Parts: sequence; structure tokens; C-alpha cells
Amino acid sequence: MPFETIIYEKNGAIAHISLNRVHVLNAYNIKMRDELYEVLSAIKDDDEVKVVILSGQGEKAFCAGADLSEFLSAPSVIIARQIRFRRDIWKLFYTLPQPLIAALHGYVLGSGLEMALFCDIRICTPDTLFGMPEVSLGIIPGAGGTQTLPRIVGMGKAMELLLTGKWIDASEALEIGLVNRVVEKKELIPTCEEIAKTILQFDQTVVQRIKDLVKNSLDLTFSEGFYREAMWAQMINFKRGGNA
Ligand code: COA
Repeated sequence: MPFETIIYEKNGAIAHISLNRVHVLNAYNIKMRDELYEVLSAIKDDDEVKVVILSGQGEKAFCAGADLSEFLSAPSVIIARQIRFRRDIWKLFYTLPQPLIAALHGYVLGSGLEMALFCDIRICTPDTLFGMPEVSLGIIPGAGGTQTLPRIVGMGKAMELLLTGKWIDASEALEIGLVNRVVEKKELIPTCEEIAKTILQFDQTVVQRIKDLVKNSLDLTFSEGFYREAMWAQMINFKRGGNA
């Protein structure tokens, strides 16, 4: 599938999606939204794909946020369309059954950071800068950032980033748990592939169920989540002939 704003490649069970609008630091526009929607929908139904790695092309950025030239000047019909796609695409990101790994470098801003927050594991390079500048633009993050960020870094840090628009570097991101690991640029994709290969060794029904249990139990009470886990443990572990 040839795309204008992303590169999509399948390498065995690992799918690579790379944002590819290098001239505008991979800013996220309607076309990219449409293409990501297309590719993520295909991945969701593709039994061959077990792990997805999301990265950005070029030297300077994973993604510098929403395309400001597009959304600050869009006529209302376009805005309506954007909102529809934004909703659909973020739901798709959130409900993707396969594990998603973010390979981050350079600027990771606004919806770029929100996209990374939908990933299950985040790896970045030492030059990465993270920020949610929406508040300084007089807008509200529209890709789940007010919900995903506090779930990953805790409410205090999320509030600081969201309310002040402060940017943080890779070492602070590591310190607050926003990223799992910081690696040199040449190691970025190989590290993500290594993690993907580790995951690939396992039974993918188990992998996807664990992902679902972690993600979709967060809004439940502890006992409801615990019960969901017990149900699935019983069902899957029983099939293995083990104890639940
Ligand atoms: N939307 C559209 N174009 C963008 C963009 C965005 N979010 N971010 C960068 N670009 C474009 C620039 O306009 C520039 O285009 P040009 O070469 O035609 O002038 C090109 O990408 C390179 O960016 P530039 O600003 O020259 O790079 P820099 O290294 O000096 O600065 C940033 C990088 C990220 C600090 C700066 O581009 C920036 O502040 N971008 C906007 C970030 C933002 O607010 N995102 C929205 C979050 S909701």
C-alpha cells in the first residue's frame, strides 16, 4: 500500500509504521489521520501482525504535533471532519489488540506525544523533547492526552506538563516513567525490534489478553479488574492444564 504521509512495512510478524512528513517535522494532518486509520484498521484484522513499531522519519522529530497550518485555518466543515477522524483514529489506537511500541526521537509534541501515549512501550533517544503545548495555543488536547498522560506518569506530573506546557527531555521522561528506556539513535529501531522479538516468543493469545486486562481494567474497581483477570486466567490457564 503506497501512502503519502506514512511508510508501512511488514517484516514477518512485526509491522513498522513510520510517520513521513519530514519537511514539517511529521506534523499530523488530515491525510496522515486517514492513512493511519487505513493502516491500523488493516493491522487490527491481520493475523500475521503480532507487534507494531511506530516511529518517525527524518532527523529532527517523531512528530511536532497537529499540523498548525491546517487546523488553525480550517473552515468548519473540515473541522467537523477532523473531529470525526480524530475520534475514530484514537479509538483505533486505543483498541488495537497487538502490542504497540513507540520509537521516539527529536520533537514529540502535542498529538505526537498523545500518539506515543497510546503505545504500550516507549523507547526514545537522548535528544528527545516531550511537550503538550496545547494550553499555550489556547486549545485542549484532543487525542486523549488529558486521560492517557496521568495514567502513565501520575496526576501531579501530568498536570504540570498539561497546565504549563513545559517541555521535558529524555532523562526527565525516563525519571517520571514516560519512557521505558533511552538508547542511542542507531539503537532505537533495533531495541524496539528486540523487544518485539521477545514478545513474539510467547503465545499471542496470552499476550493480547494481558494487554487487554491491563488497558481495559483501569476504569474498573480493583475487585472488578481482579475478577476479570481471574476469569481469563481460569479460562486460558485451564486450557494449558495449569492452575488458575
Ligand atoms: N504544524 C505545521 N508545520 C510545522 C509544525 C506543525 N506542528 N511544526 C513544525 N512545522 C514546520 C515549520 O513551519 C517549518 O516549516 P518551513 O520550513 O516551511 O518554515 C518546518 O516544520 C521546520 O520547523 P522549524 O520551526 O523551522 O524547526 P525548528 O527546529 O526551528 O523548531 C519546533 C522546531 C518544534 C520548536 C517548532 O517547529 C514548533 O514550535 N512547532 C510547533 C509545535 C506545536 O506547537 N505543535 C502543535 C501542538 S498542538
